[in-house]
Amino acid sequence: MSQTNLQQEWLQQIQASEDLTILDDLRVHLLGKNGLVTQQLKTLGALAPEERKAKGAEINAIKDQIALAIEEKKTLLEAQALESRLDNEKIDITLPSRPESMGKIHPLSKAIQDITQYFSQVGFQVFDGPHIESQELNFDALNIPAHHPARQNHDTFYVAGSDEVLRTHTSPVQIRTLRNHKPPIRFLAPGRTFRSDYDATHTPMFHQIEGVVIEEGINFGHLKGTLIDFCRWFFENPNMNLRFRPSFFPFTEPSAEVDISWKNDKWLEVLGCGMIHPTVLQNCGVDPNQFQGFAFGMGAERLTMLKYGINDIRSFYDGDTRWLDLYGFGAQS
Ligand code: PHE
Repeated sequence: MSQTNLQQEWLQQIQASEDLTILDDLRVHLLGKNGLVTQQLKTLGALAPEERKAKGAEINAIKDQIALAIEEKKTLLEAQALESRLDNEKIDITLPSRPESMGKIHPLSKAIQDITQYFSQVGFQVFDGPHIESQELNFDALNIPAHHPARQNHDTFYVAGSDEVLRTHTSPVQIRTLRNHKPPIRFLAPGRTFRSDYDATHTPMFHQIEGVVIEEGINFGHLKGTLIDFCRWFFENPNMNLRFRPSFFPFTEPSAEVDISWKNDKWLEVLGCGMIHPTVLQNCGVDPNQFQGFAFGMGAERLTMLKYGINDIRSFYDGDTRWLDLYGFGAQS
């Protein structure tokens, strides 16, 4: 076969290659180390110098032509392969998603989130403090001296070999925050608290939500208005009656406990509150003659139980997913 015919045949074979594997085999067959074109180049050495030059140029031109043809065919086959893959791999976006468990938001988390959001809308920031707290901050700075019976009433967990306790309430966050942020200030401090107690309405770990407002001229009327509005919003009852029952906390004066009127006109206690004691303000470097404020502390579990009809606080912490399916909230709600 003449050189030209051979060349034509190779080009046809390249054109006829049906896929990338066949094309690559052909490339090796022609241009590889022992390929047909390569072999021709190897024969050049035996020729006379003049002939070698002319023949060399000819074979190299063929080699370039073949290489170019292979390259073009390769691009074409790759494009075709991609196209057929795209055709075959169609994604049906109209298929409904497979049922899957998204999990539920715990009712307590939901209540704390909702309450935090409510107060943030009326200017409350959120602050936090450590669960292991010094007695200074958990008691002394809140005007609860060592000998005072209030200290015994807290069923405190003491940390062995240290001066620290597991915080019995969120009120130490009052001290921490006021020592670092100058009033006027409004803030909420939700978080874990600990007391040695266990029955249907008490667990050794529970949550409180502390609220503080300190501004010039704040009075008990502001406290009442804030808490009445809050309870009516939280329990979704614009006519709910509240009772401010005189009480005692060492860190507020006057102090009150708030009861809400529940079904059958039963009164239920939901939180403690009062005007922040001048001594507490002084302990934080705030001048009680310039600034006044109120504070409240509510039990997050208790509010949640009342709102959603949960009877036993211990069920919050059983980790039973059937319970969560019943009382939990969808991720979107
Ligand atoms: N810290 C109090 C408690 O745990 C609640 C409270 C907070 C009362 C703020 C008054 C003001 O019992």
